[in-house]
Amino acid sequence: MNRNEIIDLSWDDFDELRDPRPEENGFDQVVERAISRRGFLGGVLAFGSGATVFGSGLLSSATSARAQVSVFAFEPVGIATDFDIHVPAGYTWKPLVRWGDALFSEAEGAFSPETGVSVEMSDKVFGENTDGMELFEVDGKQVIAVNSEYVNPKVNLPEGSEGMPKNADEVVLLKHMQGVTVMEVADTGNGYEVVVDSPFNRRIHHDTQMTMDGPAAGSDLVKTKADPEGLSPKGTMNNCGSGKTLWGTYLTCEENFNGYFGATGAFEETEEFKRYGIGGEGRYAYEKHDPRYDLSQEPNEPHRHGWVTEIDPADPQSTPVKHTALGRFKHENAEMVQAADGRIVVYMGDDERGEFMYKFVSNGTWAEGQPTDGLLSDGTLYVAKFNDDQSGEWLPLTPETTGMSLEEILVFSRMAGSKVGATTMDRPEWIAANPLRVEAYCALTNNKNRGLKTNAGGDETPVSGPNPREANHYGQIVRWRPEGEDHGADAFTWDLFVMAGNPEVHDDAYAGSPNVTPGNMFNSPDGMAFDTQGKLWIQTDGEDSNEGDFAGMGNNQMLVGDPETGEIARFLTAPNGAEVTGLCWSADRKTAFVGIQHPGGSWPDGAGKPRSAIIAVWREDGELIG
Ligand code: FEO
Ligand code: CA
Ligand code: CA
Repeated sequence: MNRNEIIDLSWDDFDELRDPRPEENGFDQVVERAISRRGFLGGVLAFGSGATVFGSGLLSSATSARAQVSVFAFEPVGIATDFDIHVPAGYTWKPLVRWGDALFSEAEGAFSPETGVSVEMSDKVFGENTDGMELFEVDGKQVIAVNSEYVNPKVNLPEGSEGMPKNADEVVLLKHMQGVTVMEVADTGNGYEVVVDSPFNRRIHHDTQMTMDGPAAGSDLVKTKADPEGLSPKGTMNNCGSGKTLWGTYLTCEENFNGYFGATGAFEETEEFKRYGIGGEGRYAYEKHDPRYDLSQEPNEPHRHGWVTEIDPADPQSTPVKHTALGRFKHENAEMVQAADGRIVVYMGDDERGEFMYKFVSNGTWAEGQPTDGLLSDGTLYVAKFNDDQSGEWLPLTPETTGMSLEEILVFSRMAGSKVGATTMDRPEWIAANPLRVEAYCALTNNKNRGLKTNAGGDETPVSGPNPREANHYGQIVRWRPEGEDHGADAFTWDLFVMAGNPEVHDDAYAGSPNVTPGNMFNSPDGMAFDTQGKLWIQTDGEDSNEGDFAGMGNNQMLVGDPETGEIARFLTAPNGAEVTGLCWSADRKTAFVGIQHPGGSWPDGAGKPRSAIIAVWREDGELIG
């Protein structure tokens, strides 16, 4: 497969290139084994009204709630297969910002439908492929920090490049279109707009100067020729999900960083590189034009990526900080909550088939107005173990439990997790904590290898616990309640809030849980966020062919779920080709900002190149959404 074909792969299929799986089992065998799990599935979805069995309690109350009166104040939208956005009657949407839109007046008109954006203007416009985002209130202004996860070089490089940068300038163009945008937004009276030239506006990209803190900062593992101290990395890359600290800063999460590295000469293919999918050719040929991405010249550079990076959106001069204490893996998002004693807890997923769920717990405690120094650089990293009896525990990753040094534990967290027997998961995407109850939810998006192939470290991926279906192409959402209603506790109980599936195609476990119906079905839950009313918003990044196993599901979508009844309703459908990712609300909570990534066709302009964009959605009567 050449580099031009590699560009067309999804990031998870890119993983398979480096780590191919053995021949699949026959489909009949897959289904038979899944059905045999139904006895076990009867034991999940147990929270809610105290029920302990499937089909009574939570789920029957969900069904009856739907039959009588929905908890949601909107009429759900049907599926769509077109290249437009659809929202419920009584709601309106419009684009807030598209990639290439100016953040500064000097870049007004910089985007051309034919040629995209020039390298000179590329760090003065909104980046491509919008993802996680959070809104901050700063001095009475509203400031959004938002990720640009990756680029589609076949869309945004000049025609003659054929989707691959042909010189150093074109590499710079790609580097600038990714990373993070900080921008002020304001309500014009007819929806929100970006405040061009706001002093808060800022682009942070693959070449922006950063610092590192925590136990792995300054270690030999992160030193390079350009940074012999190992304290001054450049760039944050493949910024996927997000988080918001309790003290009002932004957390950007570095996910598929491995794909940016390649080698122009010999390099040592270590076990650690293999576990993280590093080697061979980089996706964008950066290594041909920038030695920082060349494994034969800077073998430690990949160790400086795959972190959670903190950015202060209130200070455009601030230097972003990579927090090594939170571990290095393909970070999805970072959900911060507080333990009962005031310690900081950050829940995090590692989005790759068969990888783990983590939590960081600070040593220090915090309360409003207190200093935050050390909170994200001094603490313990844990990994989740789920048991089939719906109990679970957080296992600490320490030199004692792993036999690794603390620096190694943090830089090679996946290997530390394997040593303590963490549960291999179906691609942990976003984690969201319920603001009204001490519980958290993780979207396990899908895992076609479940039960069929080990993870990249050789750990088995048995059909069990919260990963109950072999060759799982629909996904599920697991939730857990920590012991003693304390996010700092080591023990928890869990259930599945929903198991996605297709009840029109299947009548077994692949039909999904009973709160999935022909009217709300979806696949591949990914982005998630709670609103202030305790409703769980779910965004999908799945198969939108509307065929076969996915018939009747249509385009990717955003739904809302009720943690109490299990009811789920479809709120929005995306243009074909797009995933829905990234969600935050205006300060008055009356406008939702929703990310539309990699749309197809020519959305949203109707002509020229498709452009990822954030849309604003609001209720025409000015009431709260949902
Ligand atoms: Fe960038 Fe796992 O999604
Ligand atoms: Ca995602
Ligand atoms: Ca995804």
